Amino acid sequence: MASGNVVVLSDRPDRGRHLAEAVAPVADCRLAGVEEHWADLDATIGIIADVTPTRSETRVCLNRLLGRLQGRRLPAIHLVRSSQAAAVHEAQSLGATACLPATLDPSVVVEALFRQIHPEDTIAELIVRRHVARTGELINSMFHTAETGGIDMEEVERGLDPVMDAVKDGGLTGWLEVVRMHDDITFQHCLLVAGLTAGFARSLRLSGGDSQRMVRAALVHDVGKSRIPAAILNKPGRLDPDERTVMRTHAAIGHEILLASGSCDAITLAVTRHHHEMLDGSGYPDGLSGSAIGDPVRLLTICDIYAALIERRPYKAPMPESEALRVLQSMEGKLEAGLVDAFAKSIVVGLGRPAAAG
Ligand SMILES: [Fe+2]
Ligand SMILES: [Fe+2]
Repeated sequence: MASGNVVVLSDRPDRGRHLAEAVAPVADCRLAGVEEHWADLDATIGIIADVTPTRSETRVCLNRLLGRLQGRRLPAIHLVRSSQAAAVHEAQSLGATACLPATLDPSVVVEALFRQIHPEDTIAELIVRRHVARTGELINSMFHTAETGGIDMEEVERGLDPVMDAVKDGGLTGWLEVVRMHDDITFQHCLLVAGLTAGFARSLRLSGGDSQRMVRAALVHDVGKSRIPAAILNKPGRLDPDERTVMRTHAAIGHEILLASGSCDAITLAVTRHHHEMLDGSGYPDGLSGSAIGDPVRLLTICDIYAALIERRPYKAPMPESEALRVLQSMEGKLEAGLVDAFAKSIVVGLGRPAAAG
């Protein structure tokens, strides 16, 4: 991930703001003027300078930076208004590691900077990693709070855009790959379900509001696991019947946690309590069947089962996607077949490869 921050040095506030906005999805960004003293340079991973080099304040500022760097090289894109060799040479003497025309779109400038900072990663990969990290922080905080009380639904709200934007901009594959690199099983599972749900909602062309409701429910659906003993939750292998009974309490516990949290919408409540119910009545905790199980719950249950199958665990290899789809398709009577087919299509589109299932 692009940890550390990028400094956008600008003497044109509007242009500087646009550059900072283009950096924001990839890394933390600080907008600075030519009065900048470069006090916390250790946290700086790159610089975009959109300043007039002929102004004495600019030269003083950039020379101050060079002095602080003490010969160290810091990726620095300088935007120049002339392609003449003299202008480029001047920028290089003031620390530019690359010069680009000032007229370029900010996104192109940001891409050029990150090619220097992380040459091995694409911008899309960096954005996905940043969004996974942000959402992961939220999941960790939510599970910690839920151990003893309700959760902060406003905090959950801050996780919606990172998931939806990452799946939209970086694709489902990117999200799944980054999430599956994390060792914590519950963390990995919640983020997988959230990404799969976001991708499914996009594929079904749900409205923005409905997509948000589904992703919110996906993020919190297993919050009840926060009160399941770690020895059961993280057991490296199959649970015995007693352990399974304890594990199964997480759905009702999660529902209680949300009720205690207040201001939780009906879909999130229903999904959290019923995401292990099956259409044939064989699920838990309430043994609901058929029409008693609403569409949002049916949709999330499919994402939940698929996520559990493709998770990477220390003791087992992840199931290949085509095989996981076959498992879903074998659950006829328990899952809605039409919805499973729609999910399979969303996976094929999202992962950009044909499914061998069916
Ligand atoms: Fe669950
Ligand atoms: Fe789950």
